[in-house]
Amino acid sequence: MYSRLWYSLLIIIVYIRCLQSQTPRNVIRAKILEATNKYRVKHHAVPLIRSEKVEVIAQDWAVRLAQGHFFEHRPSNVYGENLWMASGISEADVMNRPGINPVDDWYNEIQYYPSGAFKTWGHFTQLIWRGSLRLGCGIASNSSVYVVCNYDPPGNVQGLFDKNVLQENGKPFPPKSSYQILVYIILVFILAVIASVVLYKIYRRYH
Ligand SMILES: *[C@@H]1O[C@H](CO)[C@@H](O)[C@H](O)[C@H]1NC(C)=O
Repeated sequence: MYSRLWYSLLIIIVYIRCLQSQTPRNVIRAKILEATNKYRVKHHAVPLIRSEKVEVIAQDWAVRLAQGHFFEHRPSNVYGENLWMASGISEADVMNRPGINPVDDWYNEIQYYPSGAFKTWGHFTQLIWRGSLRLGCGIASNSSVYVVCNYDPPGNVQGLFDKNVLQENGKPFPPKSSYQILVYIILVFILAVIASVVLYKIYRRYH
């Protein structure tokens, strides 16, 4: 009688442990999808749909990163890929504690687009890339936590940024060169003002 009771209890405990270890990753995936789509809609891109096919690939790569303790893109990937890594946290913290949010980190690269180098904003442009339709994310850990998100079709295609990366007002970002021209015009203006003041003072001295 007692042994059967203990046996049932053990089954229940094992079942709860399984639920605990299984559910969080899907909860994290759902939160990543939701946060991603919040930003996409803001930038006039359709919300992504969760793809289990893409998710298998992403999860496989996350597990390999965790096993090998390295941080690189999957070589010759047919999907777009955003990576994220953090130490000193657990998987359950991801999308669950303030500041531990891969989607926000990727989105915040907007501040470097398009004036910085590709590596400073590539996650942002993939995140809101209008041509991407499906999302699959993997989460794995081994002291550090690794998040891999794969996007299908892939973003960051050369020559297509103006059509796929829009500002909140629905227009493409001004090209890098207009920022440079603006800085140049402002510099010339400041120099012209200084030169006029100097010339005026010289003129007053001799007249
Ligand atoms: C964790 O990392 C070690 C190397 O530091 C590796 O030997 C082990 O297989 C990894 N475990 C998992 C579950 O990835």
